Amino acid sequence: MHDVIRLLRAHRSIRRFQQRPVPPELVEELVRAGQAASTSSFIQACTLIQVNDPADRERLAEYAGGQSCVATAPLFLVFCADMQRHRLACDMNGVEMLSGYTEQFITATVDCALLAQNLMVAAEAVGLGGVYIGGIRNRIAAVAELLALPELVYPVFGMCLGWPDQDPEIKPRLPLEVVLKQDRYDDSGDRGRIAGYDRVVEQYYANRLGSDKRTTWSRQMAGMLEKEARPHMLPFLRERGFLLK
Ligand SMILES: Cc1cc2nc3c(=O)[nH]c(=O)nc-3n(C[C@H](O)[C@H](O)[C@H](O)COP(=O)(O)O)c2cc1C
Repeated sequence: MHDVIRLLRAHRSIRRFQQRPVPPELVEELVRAGQAASTSSFIQACTLIQVNDPADRERLAEYAGGQSCVATAPLFLVFCADMQRHRLACDMNGVEMLSGYTEQFITATVDCALLAQNLMVAAEAVGLGGVYIGGIRNRIAAVAELLALPELVYPVFGMCLGWPDQDPEIKPRLPLEVVLKQDRYDDSGDRGRIAGYDRVVEQYYANRLGSDKRTTWSRQMAGMLEKEARPHMLPFLRERGFLLK
């Protein structure tokens, strides 16, 4: 197996870290690796905010639903979808920017995800570990206020990074046949495949050290999707100048 593929296949989220700092030069190297990702129409619409102040970290941990790793990780980054600098670019060229398009929201959000995942892989390549923190969207308006985010900028997710202080098992993924289709969408065999995968996930949780979680993938999804999903997101994004047309 190719080294890069082996690295990708070895990914698991890390939530406990050694109290050893990530040197600033390494942070810069990781961000450069993130920036090297493909970017829709060259828009480069992601801004990262490195949050250093312990009091700010505590507040973000609380906003994220009490996720202590946000406060304790040596490095915490917030990935923001950012169309503000494009307004500047238009202004520099005497053009008034037409903003608020759903297309712009998609491209800026995708840009953040691509940069972040490149950064995560680069971090894992040098022995760091990390976890995305979508939990910051629980209190997205408070996060935006804390970070002084202007209009046309929104926090997509955070990321904790550091030297791992745990060695969790790799979480099994869906069978390939469920995610890779040939020529047309055909999910006729997927009910059975997902039932088989449920048993695999159940075993994974049963064997996981220090966890008494007993569930399956489909049960987890059903439990999540019978509830509302952060209904405050749409009004927040519109107020920030996204998703208006
Ligand atoms: C955008 C995004 C947001 C996430 N938010 C959180 C989070 O707030 N807290 C957390 O513990 N894990 C979070 N995760 C991690 C996922 O739970 C994790 O990737 C998934 O369960 C698969 O596990 P693995 O990364 O160990 O393979 C997030 C992942 C992504 C991609």
